[in-house]
Amino acid sequence: MTEDPFAHLHDERYADRYAASRVGHATMLHIGGRRRIPLGGQWHFTPDLFDEGLRQRWFADPPLPPERWDRPRDADLWGAELTPVPGCWTCARPESRYFEGGGWYARRFGWNGESPRLVLRVGAANYEARVFLNGVFLAAHRGGSTPFCVELTQHVRTGDNHLVIQVDNRRRPERVPMHHFDWFNHGGLYREVELLPLPAVFIRQLEVSLAEHGVAVTIRLSDPVAGAAEVSLPGLGVTAPVPISEGVGRATIPARLERWSPASPHLHDIAARFGADAVTDRVGLRTIEVRGEQIVLNGAPVYLRGICVHEDDAVLGKTTTEADLRRRFAHARELGCNLLRLAHYPHHERAAEIADEQGVMLWEEIPVYWAIDFANPETYADAENQLLELIARDRNRASVVLWGVGNENADTDARYAFMSELAQAARRADPTRLVVAACLINRQAFRIEDRLAAHLDVIGLNEYFGWYEPDFTGLERLLENSRPGKPVVISETGADAVAGLHGGPGTLFTEECQAEVYRRQIEIAARAAYVRGFCPWLLYDFRSERRQTGYQRGFNRKGLIAEDKQTTKLAFHVLAEHYRTLARAP
Ligand code: GCU
Repeated sequence: MTEDPFAHLHDERYADRYAASRVGHATMLHIGGRRRIPLGGQWHFTPDLFDEGLRQRWFADPPLPPERWDRPRDADLWGAELTPVPGCWTCARPESRYFEGGGWYARRFGWNGESPRLVLRVGAANYEARVFLNGVFLAAHRGGSTPFCVELTQHVRTGDNHLVIQVDNRRRPERVPMHHFDWFNHGGLYREVELLPLPAVFIRQLEVSLAEHGVAVTIRLSDPVAGAAEVSLPGLGVTAPVPISEGVGRATIPARLERWSPASPHLHDIAARFGADAVTDRVGLRTIEVRGEQIVLNGAPVYLRGICVHEDDAVLGKTTTEADLRRRFAHARELGCNLLRLAHYPHHERAAEIADEQGVMLWEEIPVYWAIDFANPETYADAENQLLELIARDRNRASVVLWGVGNENADTDARYAFMSELAQAARRADPTRLVVAACLINRQAFRIEDRLAAHLDVIGLNEYFGWYEPDFTGLERLLENSRPGKPVVISETGADAVAGLHGGPGTLFTEECQAEVYRRQIEIAARAAYVRGFCPWLLYDFRSERRQTGYQRGFNRKGLIAEDKQTTKLAFHVLAEHYRTLARAP
């Protein structure tokens, strides 16, 4: 008996059937050294404001030309207009700029059965994605900035296959971030989509870190089998067995290794084999720790000369390119930075790879941003999965020194429970890095004080004295009053300025005003010995619909460079001079 064609009109539980088979950090897999079949290019795209496609099951319609339809349809996924992947539909055409809803991507691919297993990897989809192959729902993923993998093996066929991915970028109160944030809400398959042909048993994770006398390696397989894996460090002429039991194996490979640091970003090639599978990586090895109020890299105190940056482009939206990424690092180096804060969500995985090569430390974070539905267990599961996906993706990147678990969250009991658990989850997953959050201050005592700090290694301090709070004496008072007992990084400060708008240092939105804020901030922050990093907000102007004055016109103008990513403002040079001075200091 066929389904009632009108049942969906009255079924407000239509999405329940797609909530099962959710994939997350446990289904991710190591991609270094693998054969990767790219699915980038032009995909069919159908906008869907009412989730009509989930209600009517558009994905189940066989791909037929209209003349062969046996009844009317409301969508033709296979005849729809084309759009680029990777890409944001919010950048694809003017009428889609503010589209917040569902988008249906469809493309065909051929499969020759070259391997026993086949996995689809999506670099990121904002915000929720559902994957369908040959008319069958396979899996869903939530979280707008981390990769996910869906196994296609059971439903792929030799020859022609029909792949459909529905993406929903709606801002919702239970999501992470929820519906209120200060960046543009792009939608789409905005990072790479590819196929990974795999053997029957493959290496899901290759975890590498520095051990006391060599390299600590953990190998996790796709299946709980036993056997012997092998790891080699070709540059050191070292090869070692890694016995595997129940799908997991650990070994410490004795070796004398050059450490990774900003001054000497040395990377070691590593390879791992198990049965028919082989993967590689290029890893830096270093230690990062806290000692008292110092951040210590490879045993020596380090001061973080940072700048924040969004993953935003006036033309490409959230999609980033190699050139865009390398320009970001070139500007950071021109500023004299040794750290980038990749705000406020996981950026493209190439960012950490380039940072490894160039010796730039990274603060990476998940978008537990402002108000979050902290009392909702589903929201916590989503946030923790995003954190564990970020850690699984970047855990071998020496440049990542800080995992950020949140930004500017009001101190309530629910928030404290939620974020202290996240901090512990980060440590359980990766004890080799520091945990941080950008905290608010205790306004009554006027101190850097937040219950969450007890669970952090480093306290991030977002403060805008000289801008939102015009009186700089507040910053002097705050720093004098505070006894944090651990390192503090000023994780945001700054002011808006329209590039090319000039006037007195007291005239809002002028370059001179922004430059004066930087001068005063730099001078006052230097007085507190426990401030061990300065990371102003931010490198480039970026799109934000919350900003609608004549100065802003839909942009947040706190960049040191305008949104053209070329026009620098006076404050850029103030900060660059400061960092040059710091870099010369003993
Ligand atoms: C906050 C927030 C940023 C925001 C900035 C601003 O600190 O963390 O995301 O863009 O302030 O107001 O410009």
